[in-house]
Amino acid sequence: MAVFISKNEINKIKYSSDIVDVISDYVILKKSGNNYFGLCPFHTEKTPSFAVDPSKQIFHCYGCKTSGDVISFLMQIESISFVDAANKLSMRYGIIISSDNKTHNKAKEEYSKKEKMLEINKTALSFYIENLKEERAVDARKYLLNRNINREVSDEFSIGYADSQWNSLLNLFKKKRIDLGLAEKTGLIINKNGRFYDRFRNRIMFPVFNIRKEVIGFGGRVLDDSKPKYLNSPESILFDKKKTLYGIEKAKECSRKAGEIFIVEGYTDVISLFKHGILNSVATLGTALSKEHVRLLKGFVKKIFLVYDSDAAGLSAAKKSIAIFNNEFVLAKFIVLKEGYDPDNFLEKFGVDSFYKASTKALDSFSFMMESQIKINGDSVEGKVATISELAAYLSLISDNLARSLYVKKIAEKMEISERVVLDKVNKKLNDDLKYNKPVKNDFSLLQEKANLTGMEKLEKKIIGMMLQNKKILPEIIYRKVIEKFQNKELKDLGKKIINFKSDDVNDFLLNISDLKQKSIIAAILIYDENWSEKNCFKLINQFEASHNIKSIRNSNDLLKQIKTAESKKDHKLLLKLLGDWQIQVNKTAGINVESAGDKFI
Ligand code: UTP
Ligand code: MN
Repeated sequence: MAVFISKNEINKIKYSSDIVDVISDYVILKKSGNNYFGLCPFHTEKTPSFAVDPSKQIFHCYGCKTSGDVISFLMQIESISFVDAANKLSMRYGIIISSDNKTHNKAKEEYSKKEKMLEINKTALSFYIENLKEERAVDARKYLLNRNINREVSDEFSIGYADSQWNSLLNLFKKKRIDLGLAEKTGLIINKNGRFYDRFRNRIMFPVFNIRKEVIGFGGRVLDDSKPKYLNSPESILFDKKKTLYGIEKAKECSRKAGEIFIVEGYTDVISLFKHGILNSVATLGTALSKEHVRLLKGFVKKIFLVYDSDAAGLSAAKKSIAIFNNEFVLAKFIVLKEGYDPDNFLEKFGVDSFYKASTKALDSFSFMMESQIKINGDSVEGKVATISELAAYLSLISDNLARSLYVKKIAEKMEISERVVLDKVNKKLNDDLKYNKPVKNDFSLLQEKANLTGMEKLEKKIIGMMLQNKKILPEIIYRKVIEKFQNKELKDLGKKIINFKSDDVNDFLLNISDLKQKSIIAAILIYDENWSEKNCFKLINQFEASHNIKSIRNSNDLLKQIKTAESKKDHKLLLKLLGDWQIQVNKTAGINVESAGDKFI
């Protein structure tokens, strides 16, 4: 079914949306001058080249050249349709659009579902926190104190307690007339054979917040050694573990200042670090570190310390993260604590100075790989062979030749074998990879600007910018038929649209262009603020005309050659045609109306 949102409604949506606010959900933006900058979410990069201009409500990446407005941003980042993106925004900013629109209603439903689920989580959070103060939580409080989590710390982390009844929270939900179906979706209550009961019972409750400090899930720990140790909220439209980091809402500011962050494995590790004055730490939620996690963090920090357990599971998890760090160009360091320790019990036992000392000895990813591989495989012959082939596979991924040869040397020394052997392994791996590698297609190639615009096209683009930024020049453009002379079809089409567009407001114009590619061109042009004085406008038009004429003369030279050939071949029919073309060229160059002049001379 086709869904129609009127232009008027689209304008309303865009004007009422805040592009900085929307993009901030995906990219950490820093203000610089009038614009905001961050790391582009559409391509991998080390330094921020992604700009958001709030006054024009557009974004532009100087790196991958993706640009557009708030709707095209959402379309791309969420891979959704125009209508869905518009609907999302209308929901977010409370813009009412035509009510008989089914997709809209669906989006509206989804949005209000999310809001309600957040509300339900919030209700549960207060309930658990209050519960921890009650008589029935005496064991829970004892447990926390035993782990050196005092009242102050538990308040700081909003720690609570789910009592051992099967329906405490359920009753509260019923009393508050909360939609139990929705409550079930948050995972706080479970439906079994038509009956609801509380998911979390007799557990210490650790709420998980998103970056906006909204409760999106919970982890509940048993008070003893029973299993499972932690029970977590299930994944839902609110709770996506691969995008969530425990403690992010607290760590955000401090990490930004410090430029570095510690990633640990557990809830209690974050809490322990916090207690010891290390506020820049977050934990994954029992899942592997994902590229989404790293992308989020690299918006705040330059360096990431990974502090995973030095058991086999921890090592293997850390190893998997190396590829992600490398792909995202993030400087990662690996802190290996004494065997059997995690940050929590390490800090309790050895104190914060020892932890800092361990962090100064953090290994770069290669050394970490090597050390852990040796540890896992041992130093038997088979062990060494296994280690070398794993390391060779890793080295084959390093594109820097110098770094690679230094690492080869390091392996050879460490394992007491010849460099030649290591090198052969690496080269073999490289050759194998080359054989099977296919080029990766860039999803955004459609939106990428043609990097190698011709000189004429560059001028045309400049003219479009001028037309957008100084509408007073339009009569001159029309009079001198500038757009008709454009070579680039896209730009020509845009030029015509600008001429036919009535309003003076550039943003208005951008809003009315639905073609993503054209939108991208406009946004890319608009991000450069240029002041077009009348003098400069004329200068540019003259320059364009001159180049156009030179181009025409060049074409004429080609024509002349053809005419000569036709003459020597005595091809009269062709000669006549070519002479006609020649006359048209001459007239064009002289600025004479081609159509009417053409006939006279033939
Ligand atoms: P750990 O077993 O290292 O837990 O699991 P921890 O944080 O050190 O907990 P304490 O100190 O024993 O209380 C690391 C993380 O893995 C997830 C949790 O997120 C936990 O913080 N996990 C672990 C689960 O989700 N379920 C489990 O049963 C165990
Ligand atoms: Mn622990």
